Amino acid sequence: MELYGRDLICTQDWTFDELVATLELAARMKRDRFSDRWGAILRNRTFVMFFYNPSVRTRLSFEAGLTELGGHAQFMTPSAGRFKSDKQAGETIEDAAKVMARYAAGIGIRILEDRVPYYGAGDEMLREYAYWAGVPIINMADDRFHPCQALADVMGWAEWLGQGPGRPDYGALRGKKLLLSWGSGALARSWCSVQAAMLIASRFGMNVTMAYPEGYDLDAEVISWTKQNCQRNKADFEVVHDPDSGYDGAHVVYCRNWVSPEAYQDGSLQKQREIERAMAYTGWTTTVERMARTDNAIFTHPMPVDRGSEVTDEVASGSRSAIYDIAENRLHVQKAIMALTMGNL
Ligand code: CP
Repeated sequence: MELYGRDLICTQDWTFDELVATLELAARMKRDRFSDRWGAILRNRTFVMFFYNPSVRTRLSFEAGLTELGGHAQFMTPSAGRFKSDKQAGETIEDAAKVMARYAAGIGIRILEDRVPYYGAGDEMLREYAYWAGVPIINMADDRFHPCQALADVMGWAEWLGQGPGRPDYGALRGKKLLLSWGSGALARSWCSVQAAMLIASRFGMNVTMAYPEGYDLDAEVISWTKQNCQRNKADFEVVHDPDSGYDGAHVVYCRNWVSPEAYQDGSLQKQREIERAMAYTGWTTTVERMARTDNAIFTHPMPVDRGSEVTDEVASGSRSAIYDIAENRLHVQKAIMALTMGNL
């Protein structure tokens, strides 16, 4: 298996063995975090982080990861340059990608739905960067996918259902039920993390139940891939439209708000309209009472959490909350991704 030089834009682009190899390296790096084995993998190398949208976890974990691999993370925003977009003239993606690749061992890009004129345009932009850049492009969250989050998620679920921190058991996920529930709230959130989670869960043989109000369907192509992954693994995929029944027998509960498929109009995301629309659906919140319907499930969320809307404090800060472990895992999986795609291992 050769991952050197590869892009990571969606986990679906990598084979199962490639995903497992990355996760195994991440677990080794977690168990032995400051070993000399990792400290020179990206020595004297730079990773450009190009952020169209803000971030806490992604920026901090990539920066910390580059420090721990002996390299440097360079922060860049579109306002620091003159980049061509649907609204302004400027530098093309071809020119930007080719120039950045002259400086960097790899390029991470974050561009979410509020920075693009239509759904999927952010993911298309990353793939255009990948076409022109001669170095790996790592998706730091676009409007369709968040693969680094997905790898951190599945590692955390396999730790909690396995032997604990740094000792994930991916076999333990097979046949387990993941509930992916829409969450109430006024944040008009992206589809990327939820779609990334359903893709990775179905690759690892989990049964996937989606719960959301009528009218909140996700990307039909991603749903189709998820169903195919489930079929290959003899796992179930189901959709329910009430906020309670999906919890029955769940082993992993994920609750997050997302925008409707009608979010775009006239070439931009109508955020205020989406917030007002979501206000009709109060009560889609993960509570202690709902968690009691599960099979002792863990609670998972990519963060930032909208406490009080998506989940109560009792659950988010409770004894079965995996959120901080998963946030930590961002560091370990990203170190493994960069080591394998850009490093001297
Ligand atoms: N989960 C995640 O990507 O967090 P940030 O938006 O803070 O980077």
